[in-house]
Amino acid sequence: MSANRIIIAGGSGFIGRALTLDFLARGYEVVILTRSPRTRADAAREVAWDGRTPGEWCQWLESARAVINLTGKNINCPHTPANLRDLIASRENSVKILAETIVRLNVPPTVWVQASATGFYGDTGDRICDETSPVGSNALATICQEWEAAFQTAKLTATRRVILRIGFVLGRDGGALPVLRRITQFFLGGTAGSGKQFISWIHLDDLVRLFGTAVENADYAGTYNAVAPNPVTNAQFMRELRRVLRRPWSPPAPVFGVKLGARLMGSDPALALISSRCVSRRLKHSGFTFQYFNLPEALINLV
Ligand SMILES: NC(=O)c1ccc[n+]([C@@H]2O[C@H](COP(=O)([O-])OP(=O)(O)OC[C@H]3O[C@@H](n4cnc5c(N)ncnc54)[C@H](OP(=O)(O)O)[C@@H]3O)[C@@H](O)[C@H]2O)c1
Repeated sequence: MSANRIIIAGGSGFIGRALTLDFLARGYEVVILTRSPRTRADAAREVAWDGRTPGEWCQWLESARAVINLTGKNINCPHTPANLRDLIASRENSVKILAETIVRLNVPPTVWVQASATGFYGDTGDRICDETSPVGSNALATICQEWEAAFQTAKLTATRRVILRIGFVLGRDGGALPVLRRITQFFLGGTAGSGKQFISWIHLDDLVRLFGTAVENADYAGTYNAVAPNPVTNAQFMRELRRVLRRPWSPPAPVFGVKLGARLMGSDPALALISSRCVSRRLKHSGFTFQYFNLPEALINLV
């Protein structure tokens, strides 16, 4: 067994793919827990699990350096009662089975880095939220609260624990940016709703460095907002995206238009209309430095 091994549960997705490349490049062994393992061209290994019951996958956690858990049904779906149940269950179940596995190991992983989301704070409006702010009261906040509660109640004494409440991740090959880019290129990149709702974004490269730091720096423990220091409003975000893509002003989408668009795209309007104005007091104090501090540089780099 290897003290150099990083286990990435749910590592086949958008964030996990970037983390895998980074950890491999830095000489780690990477094991991805996935429901659909494939043979890979790189040195990472995909191991089958179902995200809720024990199996042969458990042995890979023995003596691992870190467990990173990104597992969860994608939030980009209509938030019907049935989907909300699946959104919570896929997250809670994965946390519970990882915790149950870790307590049985002879040598548990040094650190467990658990994904959560800035949705924890609910619809923040203009209020600035940091890690000390209370949980919100909408459906996304409930998902995050239950997700984190499963993690916090796990009885693990020998494993350092970190929660990253991740904001809106900006990357080239996944997440919402490629969709926004496409609609903006088709001259539909107007503001959504009032445009006053905030977006707490983070460049994927900074998020990857933050996961790496959380694994390697033993001072990191507890909860951090994984967001760049300067959140922007939806109107500012769309204006900047149009500028970078050299598109003219586009008509705003009223709330009913956002709802219709979300329905046509199999998404949920809350993702575009809810305000999330978050900063990270704890990352600032920890001395974490962002490569992408302001939105314009991040968008120029990505699009
Ligand atoms: N991307 C963002 O902007 C963002 C923002 C805030 C928080 N987050 C959180 O960060 C985590 C990773 O995000 P991501 O963008 O990389 O997500 P993603 O691309 O959807 O990847 C999540 C992975 O979870 C696994 N999964 C999905 N449904 C599952 C289920 N029912 N049971 C077990 N496993 C399931 C899938 O792996 P397999 O199909 O291979 O099993 C999938 O690749 C997620 O929990 C997400 O909520 C992301």
